Amino acid sequence: MLKYSAADRNKDAILQVLTTIVKSHYNNQDIQPLNALEIGSGSGQHVTHMARHLPHIRWQPTDVDQSLFESINSYIKHFNLTNVCPAVQLDVSSPSNRWPIFESEKFDLIYCANVIHISPWKCTIGLFEGSSMILSPKSGLLLTYGPYACDGVITPDSNVSFDDSLRQSNPEWGLRDIRDLKELATTNGLSFVSMHEMPANNKILVFKKT
Ligand SMILES: C[S@@+](CC[C@H](N)C(=O)[O-])C[C@H]1O[C@@H](n2cnc3c(N)ncnc32)[C@H](O)[C@@H]1O
Repeated sequence: MLKYSAADRNKDAILQVLTTIVKSHYNNQDIQPLNALEIGSGSGQHVTHMARHLPHIRWQPTDVDQSLFESINSYIKHFNLTNVCPAVQLDVSSPSNRWPIFESEKFDLIYCANVIHISPWKCTIGLFEGSSMILSPKSGLLLTYGPYACDGVITPDSNVSFDDSLRQSNPEWGLRDIRDLKELATTNGLSFVSMHEMPANNKILVFKKT
């Protein structure tokens, strides 16, 4: 099983915010079964951590990179989780009408951590277009986690250096501006709900289907 140290560090803080958001959005009914889709699951550490602590949510992990499935599926087995489906391949940049058919037709939650700055902008476009298509109408939430620029400004210096290093690795990568994400959301029938400050200069952004 792969072990990303960053995922180990941030999983509890993310879980805490996610739990609060889900409880307040779904009226404190933490027994109501919900369906969640994760984009860019990586090692599988996040999805299995969330699934262990939010057993009323059924999770579908996905990633473009099939070589990660062994790790994701090993975590599922290791924790004996019955509320996580086996990983499915999904390239978030592919046209939304070519996304795989999942067990659940519509999702209450789409969760995407540390993907949109480490992939070309077309992946962010795909994320919002696809979310618009498969989120439950009127109630579905999209949560993104990572570092962002805000109105053209990146803070603090460590995030500026991180952005530089990403763009050096791949000119199509880099921190995304929250202003652009809000615009993309509106274009796709989603609206910005809230922003949550997270440790290590990251944020959670929440959008909902309108
Ligand atoms: C930095 S890792 C984040 C993994 C995990 N979400 C976390 O926070 O620990 C970025 C992930 O995005 C995935 N990814 C990159 N491009 C993608 C695409 N076009 N569609 C879906 N996933 C993609 C990569 O394969 C990788 O697993």
